[in-house]
Amino acid sequence: MKILIVNGPNLNLLGKREPDIYGDQTFDDYFADLQFKFKEVQLEYFQSNIEGELIGKIQEVGFSYGGIVLNAAAYTHTSVGIGDAVKAIETPVVEVHISNTHQREPFRHISYISPNAKGVILGFGLKSYELAIQSFLE
Ligand code: DQA
Repeated sequence: MKILIVNGPNLNLLGKREPDIYGDQTFDDYFADLQFKFKEVQLEYFQSNIEGELIGKIQEVGFSYGGIVLNAAAYTHTSVGIGDAVKAIETPVVEVHISNTHQREPFRHISYISPNAKGVILGFGLKSYELAIQSFLE
């Protein structure tokens, strides 16, 4: 099965960005752990700080891949366009967040992704991604 992980803005800074919230591991390092753990899955990873690139990638794989794990980061709370892309495709999307956004500022309590996601996993640190991949295999 092909699964794409899509990370949105500022998640390229994982490891050095607000480590008290997001931890001190880089995503490249964590991605290597995931590939080791899920050898039976063809895992791919895409990150962009640009809304349109995220939409383009979701459209590109959204009619052929088995699953998308999407952390749209700040765009989660603002992007009707990414929300519409998730609605438009056939591939199921699991929304993930590293932090528990409901424990944070009120503007992070809104998600334009959730209404069209298969499910939402948040607050488990980087392990949220692992749980999302697991959900596609069960
Ligand atoms: C995040 C939560 C968002 O509110 C924030 O803008 C991020 C990361 C998370 O994974 O916890 O960039 O999506």
